Amino acid sequence: MSDCANYLSDQPKTGCLFCVIMKLPDIIMIHHSGKFVKSEESILMETLRLGLIGCGGMMRTHASAVNLVEGIEIVAVCDIIRERAESVAEVLNAPYITTDFETMVDRVDAVLVALPHDLHYECGVFFARHGKHVMMEKPLCNTEEECLELIRVCEENRVTLMCAYPVRFWPGIVKLKELIDSGEYGEIIQMSVWTEQLTGADWDDNPRKNWGQTARLGGGQLFSHGCHYVDIMLWFLGEPVSGMHFGTKNGTPWMLREGTSAAIIKFKNGAIGYHGATWGARGTRLGYDFQIQTEKGMLEYDHGAGVVRLYNSNIRHEPGTLEKTGCKILWERNKGEGTSKLTNYEIAHFVDCVRTGKTPITNGRAALQGLRVIWALYEAERRGITADLRGLGLDNL
Ligand SMILES: NC(=O)c1ccc[n+]([C@@H]2O[C@H](COP(=O)([O-])OP(=O)(O)OC[C@H]3O[C@@H](n4cnc5c(N)ncnc54)[C@H](O)[C@@H]3O)[C@@H](O)[C@H]2O)c1
Repeated sequence: MSDCANYLSDQPKTGCLFCVIMKLPDIIMIHHSGKFVKSEESILMETLRLGLIGCGGMMRTHASAVNLVEGIEIVAVCDIIRERAESVAEVLNAPYITTDFETMVDRVDAVLVALPHDLHYECGVFFARHGKHVMMEKPLCNTEEECLELIRVCEENRVTLMCAYPVRFWPGIVKLKELIDSGEYGEIIQMSVWTEQLTGADWDDNPRKNWGQTARLGGGQLFSHGCHYVDIMLWFLGEPVSGMHFGTKNGTPWMLREGTSAAIIKFKNGAIGYHGATWGARGTRLGYDFQIQTEKGMLEYDHGAGVVRLYNSNIRHEPGTLEKTGCKILWERNKGEGTSKLTNYEIAHFVDCVRTGKTPITNGRAALQGLRVIWALYEAERRGITADLRGLGLDNL
């Protein structure tokens, strides 16, 4: 007999042969294995019931973005510190508050997990085993084995697994990628991603005090935050070949591992990617900045200013224009969209994937590739050698 869920994805209009013969309703079908399976039509129609897990700093950011996404309802909120869950639930008018995420399982279709890194695996696997879709904060899990097992359980239970990499969905970054893909600027020579923050400091009143403990974090700055930008470089620059990482704890004594990173990656097409970042910035000029040197000039996405600029000494301006000589603004962020993490774009992508069955752009396997690059860079740094990164591109999945 055909497998109901496979049959559904292949031929959604007619449904599973077994269900048809048994005259089961075509909106909610009972799979012959005993599981409930929703038809594609019902998923497209219904509001997605989302549960939020872990109500610290990042979930508060998500809470200000979820209302911008259509077709979801926040039905449950969890944090082991009840007041944190209560304050997020209040903002979003969520009816169910808990300190134990397992108790929300029957109320939700999907979960957004923003827990400390060492809990990602356990929480993701629990919900996937119960047939719930999972949007997991980055980094996906702390080890390759955990990532692979989470991916396997999600595939086995036919649920969507997406890693929350909001930068991939920022309109300014999408614009930058479009400009590069247009071919108008020729080949990429070098891409630099620069981030400067003050994170995890051990002040007594810092809610993220002790963040830097490697056992919970799974790595230092490069793993915990740099994973965004390694992923971005793989997306822009293709297959990596080799690389090096240097980390330091200077100025970030609260970190067990590096609080500041410099990663250099050479790509198969000859381009060089550079990620320079610190969690110890007591001041910054660039903030978050993405620069791409091409054969026709330098393209920059400045997240703080919300603009994509082209720098080229051949650009001439009319007197009185605001643009700098040699610099032209190619794109500007919508008025009203601030410099936040803009996570509404990634959440909207997750909801779309759950509804349509599409594979998320930042799916589990894609997210794992970037983490493999980081683990290889860490290992090479430890051994004092250059990392072999061949085969770790997003097209090598
Ligand atoms: N995408 C981004 O730009 C971005 C930025 C910051 C953090 N993050 C990610 O978000 C996740 C959370 O980070 P954060 O900065 O919000 O951390 P945080 O420490 O501020 O919040 C974590 C929350 O989880 C709660 N918690 C811990 N154990 C729990 C359990 N067993 N059950 C329920 N709740 C529990 C804590 O009480 C806390 O409120 C991490 O994966 C982090 O890397 C992503």
